[in-house]
Amino acid sequence: MGIPHPRIHLKVFIFSVAFTLLTIGIVRFSKDPKNASRWRNEKIFPNGTHNVTISRIPSKDELRRIWIQKKIERLSSKFAEGAGKTNSSFEKPKYKPMKEANSRAHIFYYAWYRNVELDQVSRHWNDDDPGMQKDAFGLYKTDSLSGIRLSFYPKEGFYSSRNETVVAKHMGQLKKAGIGVIVVYWKPPGFEDSPEEVLEMLLSAALENGIKVALHVSPYYNWTLEHLLEQLKIFLKKYGSHKGIYRLRRRNRDLPVFYVYDPFDLGSSAWASVLSPTGSSSIRNTELDGVFIGLLADQAHRMEIKKSQFDGFYTYFAGNGYTYGSSWKNWQSLVKFARDNKLLFVPCVAPGYAEPGGGSINRPRHKGNYFEVGMRAAADTDAPIIGITSFNAWEEGSQIEPAIPHRSGPYVYLDYKPHEPSYFLDLAGWWVKWWTERTNSSKSSVF
Ligand SMILES: *[C@@H]1O[C@H](CO)[C@@H](O)[C@H](O)[C@H]1NC(C)=O
Ligand SMILES: *[C@@H]1O[C@H](CO)[C@@H](O)[C@H](O)[C@H]1NC(C)=O
Ligand SMILES: *[C@@H]1O[C@H](CO)[C@@H](O)[C@H](O)[C@H]1NC(C)=O
Ligand SMILES: *[C@@H]1O[C@H](CO)[C@@H](O)[C@H](O)[C@H]1NC(C)=O
Ligand SMILES: *[C@@H]1O[C@H](CO)[C@@H](O)[C@H](O)[C@H]1NC(C)=O
Ligand SMILES: *[C@@H]1O[C@H](CO)[C@@H](O)[C@H](O)[C@H]1NC(C)=O
Repeated sequence: MGIPHPRIHLKVFIFSVAFTLLTIGIVRFSKDPKNASRWRNEKIFPNGTHNVTISRIPSKDELRRIWIQKKIERLSSKFAEGAGKTNSSFEKPKYKPMKEANSRAHIFYYAWYRNVELDQVSRHWNDDDPGMQKDAFGLYKTDSLSGIRLSFYPKEGFYSSRNETVVAKHMGQLKKAGIGVIVVYWKPPGFEDSPEEVLEMLLSAALENGIKVALHVSPYYNWTLEHLLEQLKIFLKKYGSHKGIYRLRRRNRDLPVFYVYDPFDLGSSAWASVLSPTGSSSIRNTELDGVFIGLLADQAHRMEIKKSQFDGFYTYFAGNGYTYGSSWKNWQSLVKFARDNKLLFVPCVAPGYAEPGGGSINRPRHKGNYFEVGMRAAADTDAPIIGITSFNAWEEGSQIEPAIPHRSGPYVYLDYKPHEPSYFLDLAGWWVKWWTERTNSSKSSVF
């Protein structure tokens, strides 16, 4: 609009110069033979062993990440108040746990881990991956490192989700962090990774700690809406009266809550026939009624959510900027969209994202700064419910569950150092309490 203000010109200019200098500086730094090893991704010893490290010559994406890191640090440093911010070194966040976990704080939980000790088979950990081959020296072959599934190493070891001791510990940790609902990855019984065999135990362990359970419905082989509804009916028949099932008040009834991942390949008109009160096979006000929250990834999904007549939407992804929905900068406009259409909006925040070899889709944790900026963005939306991605998505490196430093052959896992293994649990607890106190005065109904 007209001639830009000279000060804006100046800002843009200073910014461009700074960015160019940073770029040149990093490229020169990495070209200097003295520093070259810092960016190299592997070192081959005379005996043929490879030492693999994570850094290498930064790509354009990485330079962008470095820039984003600076930006996140700058944003975070603007706030004096914050978890553990007694000085610049980020201490362990201290907080008095709330008496009861907040049922508006939800977290994505995976019960799909299995190990050989308990299950005779390992699932979702490194060692079930045929790509993980060791060489004659007992070290992982460099070319099999792509088979390493995890960036971090769990303090609990490669546990089984069927282990009651482990699950009880998880629920205790979540209670202390004040997180009141676990959203459990779900497929119907008989489908890969279905949590069916652990649900009963999980529900009891959760309930014992004042935590409730909602389902994170995941697309499964050959799924159809008809089959899914049939399966949800079976689920509700079996577990619907369990006190551990999370319910939300809607249309004067307490309804179970279903988060649905990638719902749109079932078709929005098919969903509408089921979710619209006047739909041809409407489930509204039937025994199968529920609060259905669909995943919003792309911008175009706003219309799909509306057309499908979902009750609300969530963003799931841990990476800011990874999708339209998971970009913090779009949350204000999503709030407006939600309000205009009387939809429930559940922004999802994460401590970071780290897939081995994930490159530009990874989001470093920056000692908790990443989580902080996400929490502030979510709190600013006044959303009645927030989601945390995740408790234990180890394969995505978005977990808050304790992780310890670990090495496996040449592979060095990421860790939370200089902080303790429980740092991100404590951090989540601090921020959930902060958010709870901030939102306590808001109305009790989310719709
Ligand atoms: C291998 O790399 C790690 C991480 O950079 C380093 O700490 C270690 O000293 C290296 N090992 C050898 C034998 O150079
Ligand atoms: C700040 O950090 C340093 C180094 O970790 C620590 O010794 C000190 O106790 C911290 N706290 C305060 C309040 O200075
Ligand atoms: C269950 O987990 C606990 C704690 O990690 C462990 O000590 C125990 O051996 C596990 N039980 C089985 C049967 O694997
Ligand atoms: C190969 O050499 C490196 C560096 O000297 C050493 O750390 C590693 O243990 C050696 N591996 C074997 C199998 O001898
Ligand atoms: C997948 O669904 C189609 C259509 O409903 C059905 O004909 C087919 O038998 C199913 N395939 C399997 C393997 O269940
Ligand atoms: C919310 O506020 C009410 C009244 O001020 C208080 O009794 C209650 O304990 C608060 N709840 C939380 C979770 O802080």
